[in-house]
Amino acid sequence: MKSSSSLKPRDGFTTGLGVIAATLGSAIGLGNIWKFPSLTGTNGGAAFLILYVACTLIVGLPVMISELAVGRRARANAVTSYGKLGPGQPWWLIGAAGVLAAFLILAFYTEVAAWVFAYIFKAATGGLATNDPVVTAQAFNGLITSPVQSLVWQWIVLAFISVIIIAGVSKGIERMTKRLMPALFVLLLIVIVRSLTLPGAGAGLAFLFKPDFSKVTAATVLAAMGLSFFKLSVGMGTMTTYGSYFRADQDIPGTAIRVMLGDVLVSILAGIAIFPAVFAFGFKPDAGPSLLFITIPAVFNSMPLGGAFMVLFFILAAIAATGAMLSLLEVPVAFLNERLGWSRTVATIGTSLLLALVGSTAALSSSLLADTKLFGKTFFDLFDFASSNLLLPVGGLFICLFAGWRWGAAEMRRELTNSGALTNARIVNLFIGIVKFVTPVLVFIVLLNGLGVIKL
Ligand code: PFF
Repeated sequence: MKSSSSLKPRDGFTTGLGVIAATLGSAIGLGNIWKFPSLTGTNGGAAFLILYVACTLIVGLPVMISELAVGRRARANAVTSYGKLGPGQPWWLIGAAGVLAAFLILAFYTEVAAWVFAYIFKAATGGLATNDPVVTAQAFNGLITSPVQSLVWQWIVLAFISVIIIAGVSKGIERMTKRLMPALFVLLLIVIVRSLTLPGAGAGLAFLFKPDFSKVTAATVLAAMGLSFFKLSVGMGTMTTYGSYFRADQDIPGTAIRVMLGDVLVSILAGIAIFPAVFAFGFKPDAGPSLLFITIPAVFNSMPLGGAFMVLFFILAAIAATGAMLSLLEVPVAFLNERLGWSRTVATIGTSLLLALVGSTAALSSSLLADTKLFGKTFFDLFDFASSNLLLPVGGLFICLFAGWRWGAAEMRRELTNSGALTNARIVNLFIGIVKFVTPVLVFIVLLNGLGVIKL
């Protein structure tokens, strides 16, 4: 594939398997292991799960398919893609907002990943060997309230993903995720067997699969929708950028459906790994974001061989986080590389240095900046809330309007059927209908309702 602006072939994913690994690698992440369990735990279990799956089908998946189609047609970074297919109008702003969103997400995401990386070492060296949540809470607080530890671990994470991104799309992202994804599934299955064979595991399964809708509010629905965006890495140009690396013969709807199914499966499996064990030892499921870092270590230490399983579990979480962070970092790097002509190396190092700066406000949100609040939230919470519950839904809304109405159904159909080479006309028409008429309306209503602008 030759890019139009230079004679050098544009890098991309080389095999069908590589496409799946990289795209699944982007979707699966701390969203499955940290966000999904904590939101499910605080929003009544099964009821939230049902809402989240519904949002994934009606909102997340259609946006994902639209983004992949736009990216593959334009063969460019997110900003250029929307500019190229929607010339003469400011559609490129979708891509620009995406670059901003990637920054905000990375700012707090690299810090959660930092805790995960630190926990691998703490768990391996016996630093978390207690089944008393008061003690694990002290360990976690010790980590997050130490400015030095918070910053240094974040820098380690940034350096790690930068090295992979500099190696390139096929030699870095594709090669890495191809190795990591199978390892993640194996580790997850091992932890699940342990959790399910604990006496009293049934209560956790009931929590996860028996719905209680009394806890559902407008904010819950917005949170479920926000999660469906965050989970599938959509609404901000990540999938547009990855779509630009897809092979010309790749079946986009088929790939998106597989990735969505794999991603939902991993969330549910993470729930099955976590909640039975939480209930078996009499812990509470509603600890929120600290569930992963305070409750889980105490849970693991309550079981035979728990220390070893805990190390495996945090390695698994680090693997998941890595694939997602690679896709996030690729968004600004591809933009700087193609639009401003920076080399990949300079673009990556420049972005990471800026991230170390912006991200430090999230890293220090529990220590030096704990009392610095904007809109009543710490930087960490603000980045998290603003990205999932504002930027991604708004981005998703405009992506649907762009793909369904501006770029248009005919072009989208051509891209999604590989110019008629695939026999998937029915499903493609269904998705185009949803992208045009259902998703944008739904996103709009849930957004306004969740923010309290309208009351349903
Ligand atoms: N999908 C990732 C997760 O669930 O952890 C997070 C993410 C990655 C969000 C890439 C957005 C994105 F562009």
